[in-house]
Amino acid sequence: MTKFHILTLFPDMIEQGLSPSIIGRAARRGILCLHAVDIRDYTRDKHKKVDDYPYGGGAGMLMQAQPVYDAHRAVTEGRPVRTVYVTPQGMPFTQRMAEEFAKEEELVFLCGHYEGIDERVLEKIVTDQVSIGDYVLTGGELAAMVMIDAIARLIPGVLGNDSSAGEESFYNDLLEYPQYSRPEEWQGVRVPGVLLSGNHRQVAAWRLEQSRQRTADRRPDLYEKYQKKQCLIQRLSGEKRNNIHMMESLSRGRADILYTDFRGRDTAVLLYDRKAGICMMTALDRETGERMAELIPGDTRMLLVSEPFLRDILFKAGYALFGEFGQFLYTRKETLPVKHREIRTLSEGDIGYVSKWYGTEGPGLDDEYVRERISAGAMYGAFLEGRQVGFVGIHDEGSLGMLFVEESFRGRGIGASLEAWAVNCMLEKGWIPYGHVAEGNEASARLQERLGFYKAEKSFWWLEKVLAKDT
Ligand code: ADE
Repeated sequence: MTKFHILTLFPDMIEQGLSPSIIGRAARRGILCLHAVDIRDYTRDKHKKVDDYPYGGGAGMLMQAQPVYDAHRAVTEGRPVRTVYVTPQGMPFTQRMAEEFAKEEELVFLCGHYEGIDERVLEKIVTDQVSIGDYVLTGGELAAMVMIDAIARLIPGVLGNDSSAGEESFYNDLLEYPQYSRPEEWQGVRVPGVLLSGNHRQVAAWRLEQSRQRTADRRPDLYEKYQKKQCLIQRLSGEKRNNIHMMESLSRGRADILYTDFRGRDTAVLLYDRKAGICMMTALDRETGERMAELIPGDTRMLLVSEPFLRDILFKAGYALFGEFGQFLYTRKETLPVKHREIRTLSEGDIGYVSKWYGTEGPGLDDEYVRERISAGAMYGAFLEGRQVGFVGIHDEGSLGMLFVEESFRGRGIGASLEAWAVNCMLEKGWIPYGHVAEGNEASARLQERLGFYKAEKSFWWLEKVLAKDT
């Protein structure tokens, strides 16, 4: 459970500001914890004073170091907790920062008042200084609440509906399209006809075009980034089977481009999926491969590569082989028939079953991953008269996988139905389904082909970071 500690002189403001909101509701449901701490409780001054004049003169008062330090110590109890000082002198707060902070289990927000806080305590406890914009507020509380709201809504379960955190402003570098609700005509203005057509594909195309136009008009900086990604997708589409993982990461708005180099028809690319901590790479030659290896972010958990020489460079850079895979993609738009009737999205109560059959399977695939995938609504189970017999899922970087059917229930088309179900879910989101099948798993490879998947010519290697052993 993510914990937010807010060090403030106005704890009521935080409690009253957040408690009626969706974030407050999530706190009551035990999904997160909001802990407002009154810095004044930690003063050693008998008049409860927490401020004093600045040395060197100047207007106003400063918050003193000692009460802030003691409040921080009381909250963190020596744990190394990321501590954000909200200040107009900080780095501008962005969606990307919100995503990064949402990965933390515990965060401290320090709200300043008066003319600021004694620099010495900031140097001791603060890890990040962040501003919500180029304007000055009377204190940090409103800014902290803005940040907490943006971070907390990314925590699985907070919004209830898992798809709603994805498709909105700043997703995929485009601003959101305009929306309309009833009545169909209001003050003489009608809802655009396409939205009443019931044709999902046309609606999606219209929305995308509106998003593009809006972004080009209002945020040319974002639009340039979007166009850069579109150009790369276009280039990669020359070898769709080999590159579908990168095309999908880009078009689903998951990946940042850390490196590209084009030579003729060949492309070197390093993509980084921040949320999943995954890099995808393809290189022209050893030299570009080595250059790219230096750009891999430190918190990369796993890497997907499709050239043997790149794999070998990464072995030397401290990554270990997780496995060799074939890449399969489903390029048709038609949904697949699902013959088995009892299939549903898995929920918390199903974690035990999935972990039993999946969690034992290899390094890095422990309970935590299954738990996260289930709470993201990305796993589906097959049942026979109410008893679970198998499952399938969508991995955090977006590939289809984790297909499993208990041995005694195999050969009845349950696996095919599970996979068809997942394919249909992906198609509904406008994705091109793709997945990886371990080299040598002939039964699964045959199933992919039967369902209409194509296989990439290249082989793929998943690599994982080797964690330094404690000595
Ligand atoms: N405190 C006062 N103004 C602020 C701002 N713009 N951002 C963050 N904290 C603040």
